[in-house]
Amino acid sequence: MAFKIGLLGLGTVGTGTVQILLNPAQRHPLVQELELYRVGVRSLAKPRSVALPPSLITTDLDAIVTDPEVDIVVEVIGGLEPARSLILKAIAHGKHVVTANKAAIARYGAEIFTAAEAAGVYVLLEAAVGGGIPVIEPLKQSLCANRILTVTGIINGTTNYILTRMQTEGGDFADILADAQRLGYAEADPTADVDGMDAADKIAILASLAFGGRIKLPEVHCEGIRQVSAADIAYADKLGFVIKLLAVAKRESQLPTESTEQLQLRVHPTLVPKSHPLASVNDVNNAILIEGDPIGQVMFFGPGAGAGPTASAIMADILNIAAILKVQQSGTVRSHGTPVLDPLLACS
Ligand code: HSE
Repeated sequence: MAFKIGLLGLGTVGTGTVQILLNPAQRHPLVQELELYRVGVRSLAKPRSVALPPSLITTDLDAIVTDPEVDIVVEVIGGLEPARSLILKAIAHGKHVVTANKAAIARYGAEIFTAAEAAGVYVLLEAAVGGGIPVIEPLKQSLCANRILTVTGIINGTTNYILTRMQTEGGDFADILADAQRLGYAEADPTADVDGMDAADKIAILASLAFGGRIKLPEVHCEGIRQVSAADIAYADKLGFVIKLLAVAKRESQLPTESTEQLQLRVHPTLVPKSHPLASVNDVNNAILIEGDPIGQVMFFGPGAGAGPTASAIMADILNIAAILKVQQSGTVRSHGTPVLDPLLACS
């Protein structure tokens, strides 16, 4: 019996996900057991780069999240509403949810994961941070025995692309932003990226996982790259630094007295020595450097945005849930070693 996917959104990431679902050959065998059951879009008139039977597509997103046939809702419409309401409604109807929505998770994570826990469903979000880079799952599982000390990331592809070009070409922020928009690397409204809010959402999520609490967005100091000038970059270069937009989550005191500890949470342009591993992370790539005890330093690097990389992370979450459902359906083995119901509490 196939696992039925209700996809909300057919933009860049939705299209990348559909392309994998429709081409299962030479992938994990479980991809063949997934059925793209319904696709919800805002406009039927918008031209699409992927051909789907019209009967699959609807503008009635509510009908998808309440459809008794749907097993897994994949939310890639982004933004706060109606994404939050649709996720909550899907959970209330017993659907597992996969989302790439960092803005909704950073703001409504507590509400969403509390609802998921009560309903006994999974909400997975690997695609919300770092595009195709596996970092959520490692923080929840592989690194869970560590006491995490710092998380330092380049977690916004757009600003990293702009800063990389300013570094290599010596151009001004405004000119390169305009060119990045023309080339499709930056959104028509680049505010969330260039002013640091996108990175703030992502570091709030990573910090919640790493430090086992729920981080509130106002706790994150947030400064973007609009003020970085060509002269700043040239002076930094002469002194042996590059300028990167870093997102940092750090224990203020590294004493093992958790109750008195504070977290530093900040996003801002930073002078990074050229010898530092994050200095050579260029273009739309992202990297997350995690320091933990006892592991020491571990760095995750890769494509931080784009259809294919983000769809790769979405599919990993879908397959993770499908694998659990399959074991549960077989009725012979009790499910174990599965993702925790509330990833934001995973390491607490
Ligand atoms: N706008 C985001 C970025 C997309 O530039 O990183 C991926 O979250």
